[in-house]
Amino acid sequence: MQLSELLSIESQAIQLIQQTGMWMLEQRVKPKEIEIKTPNNLVSFVDKESEKRLVAGLSNIFPTAGFIAEEGTGEKADEWNWVIDPLDGTTNFLHGVPIWCISVALCHNNKAVLGIIYDPNQDQCFHAVKGNGTYLNGAPIQISQQASLRDSLLVTGFPYDDFGREEQYISLFRALMKNTRGIRRLGSAALDLAWVAMGRFEAFYEYGLNPWDVAAGVVIIEEAGGTVTGFHDGDPIFEEDIMASNGHIHQELQKIIQEHFTQ
Ligand code: IPD
Ligand code: CA
Ligand code: CA
Repeated sequence: MQLSELLSIESQAIQLIQQTGMWMLEQRVKPKEIEIKTPNNLVSFVDKESEKRLVAGLSNIFPTAGFIAEEGTGEKADEWNWVIDPLDGTTNFLHGVPIWCISVALCHNNKAVLGIIYDPNQDQCFHAVKGNGTYLNGAPIQISQQASLRDSLLVTGFPYDDFGREEQYISLFRALMKNTRGIRRLGSAALDLAWVAMGRFEAFYEYGLNPWDVAAGVVIIEEAGGTVTGFHDGDPIFEEDIMASNGHIHQELQKIIQEHFTQ
């Protein structure tokens, strides 16, 4: 597909995502309306309705693409797929913490070529098309230039339902806590990635994620000049662990991660 076609799809998708985000801002969920998928994994009508609106709108924008969407709307296709997290940061949303977003990627043969992450609370839309750079509300953004892990600020996500690698996670956390400027845990993997792309954080790492948490963030970081990999050699979108950085500290950080998360 030509760059101009992807850019046209991008601008239509941004409009749809912003409208959906504005609708979400007005919603209030009552405690009895919260469903528990698995302990600590919550969902509400807001997640489901947001996904319905996105799938309907994106089907009009690009009728032959399929869907890999968190709440199960739509069918996967062979070549082109929208990868959708209709509300990333559901626990924050339900507790009134204004750190959540919509994350939408377009993948071609399982590689993200377009990514949009929209934060309605701050009206910030991060967007990228492969080969065309990363933008925040239309203005170019870039990763940070910090080259020392010691002077880096990191962000992560705590394990919440897959505790199989808890010991490794905690020992890595301990090592990084002492050897960086600090580690944050915001509760929205997609925004964590967007904030690496804009240079607030030098790196993000987490395990136990799904493609919809990270697909948009991968292209957004790469186009902003950063690097995204698995902890080892795995695919960062379709396998379960991901580390993303400004590139300058990637090797140093990956070495420490690998010392704790052995294959
Ligand atoms: C979650 C958030 C959180 C991360 C979890 C994700 P959800 O997504 O991104 O930051 O730590 O692993 O599942 O469930 O709010 O869409
Ligand atoms: Ca998510
Ligand atoms: Ca979600």
